Amino acid sequence: MNYTIEKWTPNHPQWPQLVAFAQEHDLFANIIDSPALIAESHYFTALHNKQIIAFIMCLVQPIGPEMDVPELVDPHGRMLTEAKIRAFFVEERFRNQGIGTALQKCILDLAPQLGCFQVRSRSELSKKANYAIKLKLGFAAHPAIRKMRSGDSPGVYWVKNVQRVDSSLQSTAND
Ligand SMILES: CC(C)(COP(=O)(O)OP(=O)(O)OC[C@H]1O[C@@H](n2cnc3c(N)ncnc32)[C@H](O)[C@@H]1OP(=O)(O)O)[C@@H](O)C(=O)NCCC(=O)NCCS
Repeated sequence: MNYTIEKWTPNHPQWPQLVAFAQEHDLFANIIDSPALIAESHYFTALHNKQIIAFIMCLVQPIGPEMDVPELVDPHGRMLTEAKIRAFFVEERFRNQGIGTALQKCILDLAPQLGCFQVRSRSELSKKANYAIKLKLGFAAHPAIRKMRSGDSPGVYWVKNVQRVDSSLQSTAND
C-alpha cells in the first residue's frame, strides 16, 4: 500500500481537513484547534491518494509539571523537555501495515532535533496495538492508575530517552 508521511503546520493548505479528521475520530479536538497548544506542537500526517489516513501529534513541554512535579533540570540547571504524544491514530482499514510504527519513528527522530530528552505517552491497557508498537520500539513501561470520575483506569506511561545529557560540570579555577 502506497502512503506518504508529511510534517504539517497550521499553514498547510489541507489543515482544515486534519482538523475535520481529528474531530471525526474524536481525537481530542482541542489539540488541534487550541492556539496555545498548536504553538508547542508537531503534527505528522499519513496520506494515501492525497487523503489523510493517519496522524500523530506531540506537544513539547517541560518534564515534570504535567505530573505535578517541579520542572526537571540537568546538572547545569537547564530545563529538560519531552515530546509528549497526545494523539496517535490510523484509520481502521489501513491498520497493521506499519503506518503507526512509521509515525512513532517520526516523533523519535524529531524529538532530539528539538532538544528533547525523552518521548512520552500514555495509553490504556486495552490499546493492544499501541502496546505492541511501544515494546517493539524499545519504550520503557511505567504502569499507573489514572483516577477518573468514572472510576480507576489502568494504563501505562511509555517513555523513551532520545538524547544524552552532558553531565560533565565545568571545573572551576579552585578545583
Ligand atoms: C495504535 C494504532 C495507531 C496502530 O496503528 P497501525 O498502523 O496498525 O500500527 P502498525 O501496523 O505499525 O503496528 C501495529 C502492531 O500492533 C500489533 N497488533 C495489532 N493488534 C494487536 C492485538 N490485538 N494484540 C497485540 N498486538 C496487536 C500488530 O501485530 C503490529 O505489531 P508488529 O508490527 O510487531 O506485527 C492503531 O491501531 C489505532 O489507531 N488504534 C486506535 C487508536 C489508539 O489506540 N491509539 C493509541 C493509543 S491512545
